[in-house]
Amino acid sequence: MRFSPFVERIAGHGVAAWDIHHAAFQAQRDGQDVIILSIGDPDFATPQFITDAAINALRGGDTHYADIPGRPKLRQAIAARYAARLGREVDAQNVIAVAGAQNALFIASLCLLQAGDEVVVLDPMYVTYEATLRASGATLVRAICDADSGFRLNPQNLSDAITERTRAIFLSNPNNPTGVVLDREELQIIADLAIAHDLWVVVDEVYESLCYEREHVSLASLRGMEKRCVAVGSLSKSHAMTGWRIGWLMADAELIGHAENLALSMLYGLPGFVMEGALAAVLAHDQVTGGMRDTYRRRRDLVVRRLSDCQGIAVLEPGAGMFVLVDVRGTGLTSLEFAWRLFRETGVSVLDAAAFGEPAQGFVRLSFTLGEAQLAEACERIAGFVGGLVGRRCR
Ligand SMILES: Cc1ncc(COP(=O)(O)O)c(C=O)c1O
Repeated sequence: MRFSPFVERIAGHGVAAWDIHHAAFQAQRDGQDVIILSIGDPDFATPQFITDAAINALRGGDTHYADIPGRPKLRQAIAARYAARLGREVDAQNVIAVAGAQNALFIASLCLLQAGDEVVVLDPMYVTYEATLRASGATLVRAICDADSGFRLNPQNLSDAITERTRAIFLSNPNNPTGVVLDREELQIIADLAIAHDLWVVVDEVYESLCYEREHVSLASLRGMEKRCVAVGSLSKSHAMTGWRIGWLMADAELIGHAENLALSMLYGLPGFVMEGALAAVLAHDQVTGGMRDTYRRRRDLVVRRLSDCQGIAVLEPGAGMFVLVDVRGTGLTSLEFAWRLFRETGVSVLDAAAFGEPAQGFVRLSFTLGEAQLAEACERIAGFVGGLVGRRCR
C-alpha cells in the first residue's frame, strides 16, 4: 500500500537520536544501574494543588467536551501573564490552549507555511522542529549559530538565510540544547529582519521561567511584533507537567482563529480537567517556578563545577533550561561514539547533541533533571570515563 509523501516529511532524522534514551530506559526497566540524563522531563512531581484542581474537576464530572480554544478563564489567565510580561494589551482572543508546545509548533507550522516556502531556523534547534516544519511542505533553511561563539546568534548567517521564498523564522529562546538566552539586541536583530522581509517569527519560550542570570525578554514585546510574532509556551518544564500535555499559542487574533479550526479538526479541544489543573498552575506561576528555578540553578552549578575540572572535555554553562552541553572533541571520539560508550561502560545516558544540528557535532547534551546526589554520581562516572580516554585522572 502507498503512503503520502507526508509520512517521509514527518520522519525527521531527529527520531533516531532517541535510540540511546530508549536503550537506557529499557536497561532501567530491567533493573540495571543506569543514570538517565538524556531527556528533559523534570523529576519533580506536579505541585499537589494543581493535581488536586484536576482531580476535583474530574470528580465533579468534568469529563465532557470542552471549549475548543480552551476555557475562557484559562485563556484569560495566560493572556494576563503575557500582558504583564510584554507591557501591552493581550486578551483571551490572542491565546489558544493546545496539547503542549509541541502541538502549538505543529499548528503554527501548518497555519503559516506551505510547499514552496522556506522557513529559517536557528541551528542547533530542538530535535522535533525538522519534522514539525517539514510537515507543512516548507523547506528548512538553517542559520548556523556556531560553537566558537558559544552558539549565539550570528546576524550575518541569519540574514544570508533569508530569500524571497522565506515566510517565517522559528527559534526557541531559551534554546534547547544550547541553553543560550538571546538578549534584547539579538532579539532586535531578528525582529528587524522579520519586519524588513515581512516574515512571521515563531518563538518557542518553554524555558522562559528557567533563566538563571538575567530576566527573559520575549521577542513578542518588541515593537512591530504584535501582528507577526507567535509566542509558544507550555507548563511542561516550568511546572513539571510534561505528561499533562498543556501549552498554548499567543498571537494575533486572526491566527488564533485559524489555529482554532485546526485544533477542532485534530483534537476537538483539550480535556476540561487538564485545563482546570492548568488554570491553577498559571495563576500560581511565580510561586511554583521560583522554587524550581533555584533547584535547577544549584544542579546546573554542580554539574558545571564538577565537569569543568575534567581535562579532555569542556562545559558550556547554560544561561537557562535544564541541559548542559559538553564539548567532547578533545577525547578523540565523535559525540555519538562518546554517548554510546559512556552509556555502555558507565550506565550514564546522554544525547549526541549533533542530533540537534551540525554545529553541535562533537557535543553531548546532559539534562539535570535528577537530584543532586545522582547528578554528582553521574559526574563522577563521566569524569572516570573521560579520564580513561585521555589517560589522565580528572580531579
Ligand atoms: C525547545 C522545546 N520546545 C518544545 C518542547 C515540547 O514541549 P511540550 O512538552 O510543551 O510539548 C520541548 C521539550 O523538550 C523543548 O525542549
